Amino acid sequence: MSEAADSTAFIRAHLPVLPVPGVPELVLHKAVPASGVGRLGEAAPYWAYWWAGGLALARYVLDHPEEVAGRRVLDLGAGSGLVGIAALRAGAARVTASEIDAHARVAIGLNAALNHAAIADVVGDVIGGPVPEVDLLLAGDLFYDPAVAARVRPFLDRCLAAGVTIWIGDPWRAPLPLERLTLLASYAVSETGTTKRAGVFAYRAP
Ligand SMILES: C[S@@+](CC[C@H](N)C(=O)[O-])C[C@H]1O[C@@H](n2cnc3c(N)ncnc32)[C@H](O)[C@@H]1O
Repeated sequence: MSEAADSTAFIRAHLPVLPVPGVPELVLHKAVPASGVGRLGEAAPYWAYWWAGGLALARYVLDHPEEVAGRRVLDLGAGSGLVGIAALRAGAARVTASEIDAHARVAIGLNAALNHAAIADVVGDVIGGPVPEVDLLLAGDLFYDPAVAARVRPFLDRCLAAGVTIWIGDPWRAPLPLERLTLLASYAVSETGTTKRAGVFAYRAP
Protein backbone atom coordinates (compact mmCIF):
# COMPACT_ATOMS: atom_id res chain seq x y z
CA MET A 1 0.00 0.00 0.00
CA SER A 2 1.31 3.51 -0.80
CA GLU A 3 2.21 6.01 1.92
CA ALA A 4 -0.67 8.26 0.81
CA ALA A 5 -3.13 5.35 1.06
CA ASP A 6 -1.77 4.53 4.54
CA SER A 7 -2.23 8.16 5.61
CA THR A 8 -5.74 8.25 4.17
CA ALA A 9 -6.77 5.10 6.03
CA PHE A 10 -5.17 6.31 9.27
CA ILE A 11 -6.80 9.73 9.16
CA ARG A 12 -10.22 8.29 8.35
CA ALA A 13 -9.95 5.70 11.13
CA HIS A 14 -8.39 7.77 13.92
CA LEU A 15 -9.03 11.48 13.39
CA PRO A 16 -12.71 12.26 13.84
CA VAL A 17 -14.49 14.89 11.78
CA LEU A 18 -15.02 17.88 14.09
CA PRO A 19 -16.64 21.29 13.73
CA VAL A 20 -14.01 24.03 13.51
CA PRO A 21 -13.97 26.19 16.69
CA GLY A 22 -15.32 29.61 15.80
CA VAL A 23 -15.79 28.58 12.18
CA PRO A 24 -18.96 26.45 12.31
CA GLU A 25 -19.32 26.60 8.52
CA LEU A 26 -16.51 24.02 8.20
CA VAL A 27 -15.51 20.61 9.54
CA LEU A 28 -12.08 18.97 9.61
CA HIS A 29 -10.41 15.71 10.55
CA LYS A 30 -8.52 16.58 13.76
CA ALA A 31 -6.59 14.65 16.39
CA VAL A 32 -8.10 13.75 19.74
CA PRO A 33 -6.13 12.20 22.62
CA ALA A 34 -6.96 8.68 21.40
CA SER A 35 -5.84 9.35 17.82
CA GLY A 36 -2.23 8.29 18.35
CA VAL A 37 -0.88 10.57 15.62
CA GLY A 38 2.66 9.78 16.80
CA ARG A 39 2.26 6.51 14.85
CA LEU A 40 2.39 8.51 11.59
CA GLY A 41 6.11 9.18 11.98
CA GLU A 42 8.66 11.38 13.65
CA ALA A 43 7.67 14.77 12.22
CA ALA A 44 5.42 16.77 14.55
CA PRO A 45 1.93 16.48 13.00
CA TYR A 46 1.10 20.17 13.22
CA TRP A 47 -1.68 19.73 10.67
CA ALA A 48 -3.59 17.47 13.06
CA TYR A 49 -4.20 20.22 15.62
CA TRP A 50 -6.02 23.53 15.82
CA TRP A 51 -3.94 26.69 15.48
CA ALA A 52 -5.14 30.05 16.77
CA GLY A 53 -3.77 32.00 13.80
CA GLY A 54 -5.37 29.71 11.25
CA LEU A 55 -8.70 29.82 13.08
CA ALA A 56 -8.64 33.64 13.11
CA LEU A 57 -7.58 33.89 9.47
CA ALA A 58 -10.28 31.44 8.32
CA ARG A 59 -12.87 33.47 10.25
CA TYR A 60 -11.62 36.72 8.68
CA VAL A 61 -11.71 35.26 5.17
CA LEU A 62 -15.28 34.03 5.63
CA ASP A 63 -16.33 37.37 7.11
CA HIS A 64 -14.86 39.33 4.15
CA PRO A 65 -15.92 37.45 1.01
CA GLU A 66 -15.85 40.69 -0.98
CA GLU A 67 -12.05 40.76 -0.52
CA VAL A 68 -11.55 37.12 -1.49
CA ALA A 69 -14.12 36.34 -4.18
CA GLY A 70 -12.64 35.84 -7.63
CA ARG A 71 -9.05 35.96 -6.40
CA ARG A 72 -6.35 33.32 -6.89
CA VAL A 73 -5.13 32.25 -3.47
CA LEU A 74 -2.06 30.50 -2.05
CA ASP A 75 -2.53 28.91 1.40
CA LEU A 76 1.09 28.78 2.57
CA GLY A 77 1.83 26.27 5.35
CA ALA A 78 -1.68 24.98 4.85
CA GLY A 79 -1.63 22.29 7.58
CA SER A 80 -5.09 20.75 7.48
CA GLY A 81 -6.16 23.05 4.63
CA LEU A 82 -8.47 25.12 6.83
CA VAL A 83 -7.60 28.57 5.47
CA GLY A 84 -7.63 27.54 1.81
CA ILE A 85 -10.97 25.77 2.27
CA ALA A 86 -12.37 28.91 3.91
CA ALA A 87 -11.11 30.94 0.93
CA LEU A 88 -12.96 28.69 -1.49
CA ARG A 89 -16.10 28.95 0.63
CA ALA A 90 -15.69 32.76 0.43
CA GLY A 91 -15.63 32.58 -3.36
CA ALA A 92 -11.93 32.42 -4.26
CA ALA A 93 -11.41 31.63 -7.94
CA ARG A 94 -8.63 29.11 -7.33
CA VAL A 95 -6.74 27.87 -4.28
CA THR A 96 -3.31 26.26 -4.14
CA ALA A 97 -2.27 24.74 -0.81
CA SER A 98 1.45 24.48 -0.03
CA GLU A 99 2.57 22.18 2.75
CA ILE A 100 5.88 20.41 3.41
CA ASP A 101 4.37 17.53 5.42
CA ALA A 102 3.24 14.64 3.19
CA HIS A 103 0.60 13.46 5.70
CA ALA A 104 -0.78 17.00 5.81
CA ARG A 105 -1.09 17.03 2.02
CA VAL A 106 -3.24 13.90 2.28
CA ALA A 107 -5.31 15.48 5.08
CA ILE A 108 -5.84 18.60 2.94
CA GLY A 109 -7.41 16.46 0.21
CA LEU A 110 -9.67 14.67 2.67
CA ASN A 111 -10.68 17.89 4.41
CA ALA A 112 -11.37 19.67 1.13
CA ALA A 113 -13.67 16.82 0.09
CA LEU A 114 -15.48 16.89 3.45
CA ASN A 115 -16.29 20.56 2.84
CA HIS A 116 -17.07 20.19 -0.89
CA ALA A 117 -14.14 22.49 -1.67
CA ALA A 118 -12.06 21.92 -4.79
CA ILE A 119 -8.48 22.86 -3.97
CA ALA A 120 -6.82 23.08 -7.39
CA ASP A 121 -3.30 22.07 -6.33
CA VAL A 122 -1.76 20.63 -3.19
CA VAL A 123 1.98 21.16 -3.46
CA GLY A 124 5.11 20.93 -1.32
CA ASP A 125 7.62 23.67 -0.57
CA VAL A 126 7.35 26.64 -2.95
CA ILE A 127 9.28 29.29 -1.05
CA GLY A 128 12.52 28.74 -2.99
CA GLY A 129 10.79 28.94 -6.35
CA PRO A 130 9.29 31.70 -8.46
CA VAL A 131 6.51 33.91 -7.17
CA PRO A 132 3.31 31.93 -7.80
CA GLU A 133 0.57 33.35 -9.98
CA VAL A 134 -1.77 34.31 -7.17
CA ASP A 135 -3.45 37.49 -5.98
CA LEU A 136 -3.70 36.69 -2.28
CA LEU A 137 -1.31 34.75 -0.04
CA LEU A 138 -2.74 33.48 3.24
CA ALA A 139 -0.50 32.23 6.04
CA GLY A 140 -2.12 30.81 9.17
CA ASP A 141 0.29 30.37 12.08
CA LEU A 142 3.40 30.13 9.95
CA PHE A 143 5.46 32.18 12.43
CA TYR A 144 5.47 29.40 15.02
CA ASP A 145 9.25 28.92 14.84
CA PRO A 146 12.03 31.50 14.35
CA ALA A 147 13.87 29.35 11.78
CA VAL A 148 10.71 28.85 9.71
CA ALA A 149 9.94 32.57 9.95
CA ALA A 150 13.44 33.44 8.70
CA ARG A 151 13.05 31.09 5.71
CA VAL A 152 9.58 32.38 4.81
CA ARG A 153 10.24 36.14 5.03
CA PRO A 154 12.29 36.51 1.80
CA PHE A 155 9.54 34.66 -0.09
CA LEU A 156 6.88 36.93 1.37
CA ASP A 157 8.96 39.95 0.35
CA ARG A 158 9.25 38.67 -3.22
CA CYS A 159 5.51 38.01 -3.37
CA LEU A 160 4.75 41.46 -1.97
CA ALA A 161 7.04 43.12 -4.51
CA ALA A 162 5.18 41.25 -7.27
CA GLY A 163 1.87 42.71 -6.10
CA VAL A 164 0.51 39.82 -4.07
CA THR A 165 -1.66 40.78 -1.07
CA ILE A 166 -0.50 38.91 2.05
CA TRP A 167 -2.60 38.20 5.12
CA ILE A 168 -1.17 36.48 8.20
CA GLY A 169 -3.13 34.97 11.08
CA ASP A 170 -1.16 34.70 14.31
CA PRO A 171 -1.59 34.93 18.11
CA TRP A 172 1.26 37.43 18.42
CA ARG A 173 4.00 34.80 18.53
CA ALA A 174 7.55 36.08 19.09
CA PRO A 175 8.87 35.64 15.50
CA LEU A 176 6.05 37.76 14.07
CA PRO A 177 7.52 40.79 12.20
CA LEU A 178 5.23 43.33 13.84
CA GLU A 179 7.10 46.25 12.26
CA ARG A 180 5.85 45.04 8.85
CA LEU A 181 2.26 44.27 9.85
CA THR A 182 -1.00 46.19 9.93
CA LEU A 183 -3.64 44.68 12.19
CA LEU A 184 -6.87 44.07 10.26
CA ALA A 185 -8.88 42.30 12.96
CA SER A 186 -8.50 40.27 16.12
CA TYR A 187 -10.53 37.35 17.37
CA ALA A 188 -10.88 35.36 20.58
CA VAL A 189 -10.27 31.79 19.42
CA SER A 190 -10.29 28.43 21.13
CA GLU A 191 -7.14 26.56 20.13
CA THR A 192 -6.89 23.89 22.81
CA GLY A 193 -10.04 24.45 24.81
CA THR A 194 -8.66 27.65 26.35
CA THR A 195 -9.43 30.95 24.67
CA LYS A 196 -6.66 33.17 23.32
CA ARG A 197 -6.56 36.21 21.08
CA ALA A 198 -5.22 35.96 17.54
CA GLY A 199 -4.76 38.71 15.02
CA VAL A 200 -5.18 38.90 11.28
CA PHE A 201 -2.54 41.15 9.76
CA ALA A 202 -1.65 42.55 6.38
CA TYR A 203 2.06 42.20 5.55
CA ARG A 204 3.36 45.46 4.08
CA ALA A 205 6.50 46.94 2.62
CA PRO A 206 9.09 48.49 5.01
C1 LIG B 1 1.53 25.81 12.80
S1 LIG B 1 1.06 24.95 11.37
C2 LIG B 1 -0.38 25.88 10.83
C3 LIG B 1 -1.22 25.11 9.84
C4 LIG B 1 -2.42 25.86 9.27
N1 LIG B 1 -2.01 26.99 8.45
C5 LIG B 1 -3.36 26.30 10.36
O1 LIG B 1 -3.34 27.48 10.69
O2 LIG B 1 -4.10 25.46 10.88
C6 LIG B 1 2.29 25.48 10.21
C7 LIG B 1 2.44 24.55 9.02
O3 LIG B 1 3.40 25.10 8.11
C8 LIG B 1 4.07 24.03 7.50
N2 LIG B 1 5.29 24.57 6.90
C9 LIG B 1 6.44 24.94 7.50
N3 LIG B 1 7.32 25.42 6.61
C10 LIG B 1 6.71 25.36 5.41
C11 LIG B 1 7.11 25.70 4.08
N4 LIG B 1 8.32 26.19 3.79
N5 LIG B 1 6.24 25.50 3.07
C12 LIG B 1 5.01 24.98 3.33
N6 LIG B 1 4.58 24.62 4.56
C13 LIG B 1 5.42 24.81 5.58
C14 LIG B 1 4.26 23.03 8.61
O4 LIG B 1 4.48 21.72 8.12
C15 LIG B 1 2.94 23.16 9.36
O5 LIG B 1 1.98 22.21 8.94
